[in-house]
Amino acid sequence: MFWRSILLLPTIISSSNWNWEEIDLDKTFYPETFLWGTASSEYQISGAGRLPNCQWAEWEKKGHPAIKGGETSDSSIQGWDRYEEDALLLKEMGLNSYRFSVDWSAIEPEEGVFNKEAINHYKSVCKTLKSHDITPMITLHHFAHPTWFENKGAFEKRENVDYFVRFARLVFSELSDEVDLWCTINEPTVSVLMGYILGEFPPGKTGIFTAAEVLNNMLYAHVAVYKELKSMPNGENSQIGIVHSYLKFEAYNGWNPIEALPCYFFTKNLHDTVMDFFKTGEFSSMLLQRETVPDAPNSFDFFGLNYYSRAVVAMQFSLSDFLIATCFPGEVMTDMPYASHAEGFYQALIDCGELGKPVYVTENGIADEKDDRRELFIRKYLYALSKAIEDGVDVRGYFYWTLIDNFEWAEGWTKKFGLFECDRTTQERKLREGSKAYKEIVARAVPALHEYEVASS
Ligand code: BGC
Repeated sequence: MFWRSILLLPTIISSSNWNWEEIDLDKTFYPETFLWGTASSEYQISGAGRLPNCQWAEWEKKGHPAIKGGETSDSSIQGWDRYEEDALLLKEMGLNSYRFSVDWSAIEPEEGVFNKEAINHYKSVCKTLKSHDITPMITLHHFAHPTWFENKGAFEKRENVDYFVRFARLVFSELSDEVDLWCTINEPTVSVLMGYILGEFPPGKTGIFTAAEVLNNMLYAHVAVYKELKSMPNGENSQIGIVHSYLKFEAYNGWNPIEALPCYFFTKNLHDTVMDFFKTGEFSSMLLQRETVPDAPNSFDFFGLNYYSRAVVAMQFSLSDFLIATCFPGEVMTDMPYASHAEGFYQALIDCGELGKPVYVTENGIADEKDDRRELFIRKYLYALSKAIEDGVDVRGYFYWTLIDNFEWAEGWTKKFGLFECDRTTQERKLREGSKAYKEIVARAVPALHEYEVASS
């Protein structure tokens, strides 16, 4: 207790903090052509019952502690089956785009066996969205892949990249008539941190050297898929990018090397490495010899930015957890182990803009079960977004994470990111009060969409 209070003594707050008292949150500007949407991933909305051939379905069988409370994704929100009604929720929010993932294990449940029904399912999803004037954005890999691919060593082996390219080619050939916006891989660094360093995602490994190899191979896979898809029919007209989790680690006490060194290590290897790869074509982590992929700086038509917050790390004197995630004094924690930090979002946009390509905010949102922080979170982050646009960043769209509460991986069902909550027994979806801020901001930014909504309700 004593040490905890010492830790929470006020420290010098970074000068990049804004004085929110003086900011008019309604003074915002967004381009007319802006995409306003939400993001999801198939496994999180459909679960193991629908996707039994996914490596996550195997992983979940371990129960607790692999998944918090031993929960399973089975009792899902039935995203696969309810896409028509969920498209109407997007309309209800006045949104004009939707980012979702095409699940590899559904399309290729066994190596080399492709499921036509699953492909047709995704064609219907795209057509439904478009019939409502909702622009689809597809992600090809969102933490989930077939068990057979996992058993082959997944991205631990360079030669396995070919399997992913083959899957990407098939999906692109089937869906690129309907879809112009493509994300290759979602957050390679999070796959690596959670699956190969902390061991909380499959395959549950904890070796930093393998982690560096996997990151290297995933970035290489992105470049390979990009080149392949660009050479195909519709390739030239499609916008293809990667999605990066912009996460920096900060020591609560910058003077304390026990806090500062791990923060430096993680920021360097999980964030800087990716940014440098796309700037220079050099993959250079502290753990692996450098590799040059000369095509990397030209391997994306847009940069997908996922930003939630920064990770603030503090030391404590306890046998269980030596380093804990915390926040600086005066900050508001979310239900995840980080605080709301809109200033960091602004900085992330500026940094990503420097890559010289358009930016999409492919994910941003708050886990807030009580729904007492969501409104302000949305208003502050969208203010930061507007400021970055005003300051010259070419941002083309914003996808809130997420439309409906879904399966939060190792956290089970405990984290409520949804604009809508869902009673998983009745499947009833209900708009949260705090989410209305998003609806209002979009209505102001895109009056035409709002008119549609009013007219049709
Ligand atoms: C992931 C999502 C996840 C979200 C909220 C992102 O890292 O792409 O799958 O649900 O964060 O934690």
